[in-house]
Amino acid sequence: MKGINAIALALTATTASASLVPHYFKRASSLASVSVQGNAFFAGGNRFYIRGVDYQPGGSSGAVDPIADQSTCTRDITEFQKLKINTVRIYTVDNSQNHDACMSALATAGIYLALDVNTPKYSINQDDPAPSYNADYLQSVFSTIDAFHTYSNTLLFFSGNEDINSVATTSSAPYVKAVTRDMKNYISARKYRSIPVGYSAADVDTLIYQTADFMNCGDDAMARSDFFAYNDYSWCDPSSFEGSTWQAKATYFANFSIPLFLSEYGCVKTTRQFQEIATLYGPQMTPSYSGGLAYEYSREGTAAPADLYGLVEINGNSVTELTDFGTLASAFSNTPSPTGSGGYRPSGSPAICPTQDSNWNVTTGSELPVFPSAAATYLKNGAGTAPGLSGSGSQNSGPASVAFASGSSVAATGTSTSTSTSTSGSKKSAADGRVIDSAPVMACGLVVAMSTLLGMALL
Ligand SMILES: *[C@@H]1O[C@H](CO)[C@@H](O)[C@H](O)[C@H]1NC(C)=O
Ligand SMILES: *[C@@H]1O[C@H](CO)[C@@H](O)[C@H](O)[C@H]1NC(C)=O
Repeated sequence: MKGINAIALALTATTASASLVPHYFKRASSLASVSVQGNAFFAGGNRFYIRGVDYQPGGSSGAVDPIADQSTCTRDITEFQKLKINTVRIYTVDNSQNHDACMSALATAGIYLALDVNTPKYSINQDDPAPSYNADYLQSVFSTIDAFHTYSNTLLFFSGNEDINSVATTSSAPYVKAVTRDMKNYISARKYRSIPVGYSAADVDTLIYQTADFMNCGDDAMARSDFFAYNDYSWCDPSSFEGSTWQAKATYFANFSIPLFLSEYGCVKTTRQFQEIATLYGPQMTPSYSGGLAYEYSREGTAAPADLYGLVEINGNSVTELTDFGTLASAFSNTPSPTGSGGYRPSGSPAICPTQDSNWNVTTGSELPVFPSAAATYLKNGAGTAPGLSGSGSQNSGPASVAFASGSSVAATGTSTSTSTSTSGSKKSAADGRVIDSAPVMACGLVVAMSTLLGMALL
């Protein structure tokens, strides 16, 4: 297998452009696509566990698409194969670029892509979500779906990352959920393969359960997430199922009806041994969890603790493996995924929508923003020309206030037939020009960096 992969990679590397990749090669490198059954992922009839790393050389704020450039991706796929991973998560891609060559090379290496659809210029503003939820924004999101839906190794799409990370930002939750709904409706309207769509949450103790339940509640199946993921840094070696928050989470999620996984893990407060991997793919977790992604492939930044996360250091075309690379590779190779069902639950009921309280400040109940009527054309005719990373952006191109309504009728038509309310009051004007959380990796890194500093101060 290794030999075949190496040959295939060499072939890809000598191919000048994606359109020149021979047809037989493309077909040979397709992977069984992943779908959701009950609370688990399946591929080719077997349960599928995510065994991956987060991958964004340059960081999200740098916004360099690592799979638009064949020399970048082939450089890194060599390392992915040494880690024996089956998934990478990418936070930002350029939806105007061609990804055939890298997606094919990834498939040849047995690697799926978990993809965030937001970019620094096209994302929901967690502090002032209404003006950022608009047709221009959705056009970018739908363009990303257009660019990736044909690849069999597109595993899933993230509709958002850590938008909800404080009481104040819980009011962005209905917007993120609306984006999930719109993406699912778009995939369905365009008759694409049912690529799973869900949200990647910040692991904030006082919000995580309401966030999970909110994304998986309500009568409109199209608005409920296909999976739920969160970024977990609670396991700092040496630790355990009981010593981290994992036991409490696994208990809470014992009846959760959709797949769960860790979209980031790998605490650096202490030296990483990646002991959590044995537990992640063990019997305490697999009934509800489908693996996760270690944070992160490349060392970013020049000051600790940000640079402690890297598995490798990249310099141009050369990659240096750091200590954690070998540690992670051993942890993976010592921990096969379980055979059989892993105790998953083939069916279950959606969650109950959380009620407003001192932590969860969603005042609109289970109502969601109404799909913008100007975006209806995309469902019918496709998203058109992708804006890429250099487009004019969308954060302030919508109206200051958005109508909310309940029921699935509001989603696809853009006109509400049910009673709708308008978010009123003191919405910021579109000209307010607030800075948004455009850099998910950085935002997360900062939170972690701060907690790491605190941890270090306490040591
Ligand atoms: C809760 O939401 C209301 C209505 O949007 C807002 O006025 C209030 O400031 C919010 N409270 C917090 C703590 O964010
Ligand atoms: C899960 O469902 C079972 C069977 O319906 C029930 O007995 C149990 O209390 C539920 N557990 C949780 C944590 O909700």
